[in-house]
Amino acid sequence: MAEKIIPIADQRYPHAVPAVPRQLEAPSGEITDSLGRSLHDLRISVTDRCNFRCVYCMPKEIFDHGYAYLPHQSLLSFEEITRLARVFVAHGVRKIRLTGGEPLLRKDIDKLVAMLSALRTPDGKPLDLTLTTNGSLLARKAQALKDAGLTRVTVSLDSLDDATFKRMNDVDFPVTEVLRGIDVAHEVGLGPIKVNMVVKRGANDQEILPMARHFKDTPHILRFIEYMDVGSSNGWKMDEVLPSAEVVRLIDSELPLTPLTRHSADETAERWRYRDGSGEIGLISSVTRAFCGDCSRARLSTEGKLYTCLFATAGHDLRALLRSGHDDAQISTAVAHLWRAREDRYSALRAQSTEGTAHANETKRVEMSYIGG
Ligand code: GTP
Ligand code: 5AD
Ligand code: SF4
Ligand code: SF4
Repeated sequence: MAEKIIPIADQRYPHAVPAVPRQLEAPSGEITDSLGRSLHDLRISVTDRCNFRCVYCMPKEIFDHGYAYLPHQSLLSFEEITRLARVFVAHGVRKIRLTGGEPLLRKDIDKLVAMLSALRTPDGKPLDLTLTTNGSLLARKAQALKDAGLTRVTVSLDSLDDATFKRMNDVDFPVTEVLRGIDVAHEVGLGPIKVNMVVKRGANDQEILPMARHFKDTPHILRFIEYMDVGSSNGWKMDEVLPSAEVVRLIDSELPLTPLTRHSADETAERWRYRDGSGEIGLISSVTRAFCGDCSRARLSTEGKLYTCLFATAGHDLRALLRSGHDDAQISTAVAHLWRAREDRYSALRAQSTEGTAHANETKRVEMSYIGG
């Protein structure tokens, strides 16, 4: 018998095939983990590739020509993604975010959007279906995404200054093209657009005020993200994190701010609005103010592994269940058991730790480009 060859890239991180309980259960539309947290948000990575090499995510020294990306047959097909998404929606997921790598690099991504946008929550509502992109292909693809049923987009943009931006993306990509992508996405109705800026002290913190000034008085919501210790290739150091409190202080000194309440407990961002009524900003403080307490997010990697935390060291191989002929009821029951057992709260534990990490073994962390932001 021919031996099955397992691509090495697939074996990069530890994972296990979930047990399928004999006793099947029907999904109830709401499920809570061991800390009482619901499952409302599913983030699906559709490719581990990206055309940028952001210094905090896919540094060039590691993600070079020799890097082993996943081979095509490892990726979940659109049918497989949609099948799993349906299972998660039956358990209470209301928001699906497509991520990467860069999700717009996945061929025919609008077809996947069309398939996912046909899903309905148990009470018959459409999903909040969104996507995080670096904006490089957005001007070209926005209309097709909107037509396929995408609700909105989030665009990553770390600077308005071309030299700084090019240093951050490390592939010489110009700011103007990303801004054009944002404009086109807005014009076709993919708003309100969120613009995510990762702040890395010493790299782009001088761009906080120019970014705030630029997006004030626009319908877009700018969010400042603390640089995180995700993955094991970005060489993260605590002193490169600029705490959100400092970002607020800086902006408030020139453009007065007032706090807003969160839309929901599981929202990542603290919201502030300009006192003159000209828009809002968000602060995502996963380092200085961990928000694990209400975390309702599950992540599906490009080749179908379920991660119950951005910092999880091991994934649950749902693709193995799909490809070994298990039916939806079996997969749904397995997912229910995994979620009920969930006890992850990495950022909260890291905040309490004196060593600046909550992991014993630093080498095992999954990369953000693999698991999705
Ligand atoms: P909206 O529904 O548009 O508000 O999206 P969101 O804030 O849930 O998602 P988005 O992908 O825009 O998140 C922005 C950034 O927050 C990500 O790129 C990460 O840097 C960070 N982030 C998102 N989710 C988590 C999480 O569960 N844990 C941690 N530690 N960071 C997260
Ligand atoms: N810290 C914080 N956010 C990160 N992202 C990637 N790497 C990091 C990191 N180290 C997020 C950014 C980007 C999205 C695709 O992933 O928000 O916009
Ligand atoms: Fe690509 Fe986004 Fe990572 Fe930058 S942050 S390398 S754009 S996946
Ligand atoms: Fe959720 Fe893990 Fe992020 Fe905490 S660190 S908010 S548990 S994904």
